[in-house]
Amino acid sequence: MGVTPTDVEHEVTRVDIVVSKGDEEGNIIYANPIFFKLAGYTQGELLDKPHSMIRHPEMPKIIFKYLWDRLKSGEDVMTFVKNLSKDGGFYWVFAHVRVATNPDGTFRNYVSTRRAMASGARGVIEPLYKKLSEAEQNGGMEASQKVLEAFLAENGASLATFSDVMQTLQKSE
Ligand SMILES: Cc1cc2nc3c(=O)[nH]c(=O)nc-3n(C[C@H](O)[C@H](O)[C@H](O)COP(=O)(O)O)c2cc1C
Repeated sequence: MGVTPTDVEHEVTRVDIVVSKGDEEGNIIYANPIFFKLAGYTQGELLDKPHSMIRHPEMPKIIFKYLWDRLKSGEDVMTFVKNLSKDGGFYWVFAHVRVATNPDGTFRNYVSTRRAMASGARGVIEPLYKKLSEAEQNGGMEASQKVLEAFLAENGASLATFSDVMQTLQKSE
């Protein structure tokens, strides 16, 4: 939304835990101080706004489609996300998004807990996401899903085990 991306990277340190909670549509209903600091916005600017406020244009659509498909079926997702800050800078995180339920089992909210991306993962994820975005530009989401499935197959996995592959990459330091 009017933010021009730059190549300035904001550091997520090894001890940072960047947390936010979303409602059913993905609007931000809570976030911790480091979330606001990295995003570069005040609480007032982000609360009740969609998480896509910090969506980076280089993020492939298929990753978010996968995220929402899984969340809607009640499953957690682990993935890498490049986020866009208000000043145009970016930061990479490894995100674990969970569905939180009330004691009676009904939906409570979505919770994302993010940590610094492992340096070993970056060399795999950056080219993968670039390939996914290119596939999307040329052949839409169907094309990028094929690229994603091929990548997972190379790692002995499938869409069902996407998060496991991401977690393994995060541990590959
Ligand atoms: C709890 C939670 C946390 C999220 N965190 C992010 C995030 O950090 N960055 C991001 O771009 N999208 C995040 N999303 C996904 C957004 O809701 C949205 O799908 C994504 O930004 C793509 O937006 P678009 O479909 O409007 O292009 C999160 C969703 C949930 C439910």
